[in-house]
Amino acid sequence: MLSRILEEELNRQINEELFSAYLYFAMSAHFEAENWKGFASWLRIQAIEELGHADRLYKFVIEKGGRVELQSIEKPTKDWKNVLSAFEDGLKHERHITERINHLMDIAIKEKDYASQSMLKWFVDEQVEEEANFSEIVAKLKMIEDSPRALFYLDHELAKRAK
Ligand SMILES: [Fe+2]
Ligand SMILES: [Fe+2]
Repeated sequence: MLSRILEEELNRQINEELFSAYLYFAMSAHFEAENWKGFASWLRIQAIEELGHADRLYKFVIEKGGRVELQSIEKPTKDWKNVLSAFEDGLKHERHITERINHLMDIAIKEKDYASQSMLKWFVDEQVEEEANFSEIVAKLKMIEDSPRALFYLDHELAKRAK
């Protein structure tokens, strides 16, 4: 069984992961329209990964005998002034998700819920990678500044990300 609070917080996290997918799909669509196909592709793969995170939590709540209750998903921002601002938003968002996962882990530890702790450990590790991915791209975009050539090159590089 899940405690009431953990059930609520895990449901909230399902919503957070679905919003993450929405946010990256929105960024991807934005860059598709701007013809930055590599950035668009990278972000679309990221969005699909986020759907997988939501599904992981969804399955866990059900397996633990909890109830999944879906809430409405917030509408993401549609416009970003440049590639850097989008990826900075992504990094900021991932840091927020890390805080959420830490919060969930705090509750699971307090409640001595070992199954939830074990499940959440996967997310703790995943967030290290998520933040590192966005950080690395943000750092590169800052180096690039206004060089279109370098931006084309990075777009080409990110197009190589596989599922
Ligand atoms: Fe996620
Ligand atoms: Fe993420």
